[in-house]
Amino acid sequence: MNKKPANNWQQICDPLFDQHDLRLWLYHPAHPFDVLSGNKQLKLHYPLKIAQKQGKRGVLTFGGAFSNHLAATASACKQQSMASIGLVRTDQLDAHNPTLQHCQTSGMHLVPLSRTEYRMRSDSDWLTQLQQQYPEFLIVPEGGSSALGVQGVTELDLTQTPHGNSQYIVTASGSGGTLAGLALGNPDAKVIGIDVVNDISLPDKIKQWCPQANNWQLIRGYTGKGYGRFDAELLQLCLDFRQCHQITLEPIYTGKAMSALYQLIAQGSFPKGSSISFFHTGGLQGLAGLRYRGLLSEADYQILTAPC
Ligand SMILES: Cc1ncc(COP(=O)(O)O)c(C=O)c1O
Repeated sequence: MNKKPANNWQQICDPLFDQHDLRLWLYHPAHPFDVLSGNKQLKLHYPLKIAQKQGKRGVLTFGGAFSNHLAATASACKQQSMASIGLVRTDQLDAHNPTLQHCQTSGMHLVPLSRTEYRMRSDSDWLTQLQQQYPEFLIVPEGGSSALGVQGVTELDLTQTPHGNSQYIVTASGSGGTLAGLALGNPDAKVIGIDVVNDISLPDKIKQWCPQANNWQLIRGYTGKGYGRFDAELLQLCLDFRQCHQITLEPIYTGKAMSALYQLIAQGSFPKGSSISFFHTGGLQGLAGLRYRGLLSEADYQILTAPC
């Protein structure tokens, strides 16, 4: 992959930004409902390439039962005619879960893991055993965050907006690979990750992938009630954003990060005259899972997923 300037930009206008003399540019996927859109294709590009080069049959990875990363890995492997295995944090595979249905119809072999087993996912002895059990599969860590995943993200230039350079890049941060990759690939900008998982080990993980970069910051305190949880106010922000800007955000990653950004702007955290790029990292497949669990009404789901 060559370094590519981003080309799907939309300026987001709001009286709040005028008040603080800021410009906000959102980089959004061309096909927002494609499970590979946003950061997914970028993080999977090199792992799949290496798996092919090593003559592996496919990729093995991990995720929760509604994981965007599992859905993306299943699709990416299908596209490349590779096999995929998903180790899912669940006691039982639910045949009606829309994310798992997508994985299965894309050919992913799903294996349920109890919460206790799932906690072993970064343990090196456990991973060695897993690799012995599945020698024909390249193991990709949760969220696709690894040195290879980070390498793919470095190739996205998010500073060149249609109206000149931005000084700040903002993204949702979960397993940390996206923030690390953006920091390495956009050295002239300050990259701000909004922690949506409340993981105290996240800064150390990020440092390990970009030890030489000091242009990033992980902002904590905007996770609300925890990863995957959201309140009516956050959902309303997603609905209003869709109505005002024709861009769909979901409340687990991009909506939470956008809400945090509005709050940071309101607090005066950015110097006047700055331009900010916001990375829309995708993840809209997750909306179907929220509807399935009754966390999103049918009416709100229809508003958020209607074609623009
Ligand atoms: C939609 C969405 N946004 C942001 C992120 C966070 O990216 P990362 O895990 O690389 O920090 C994820 C997780 O991959 C995601 O699914």
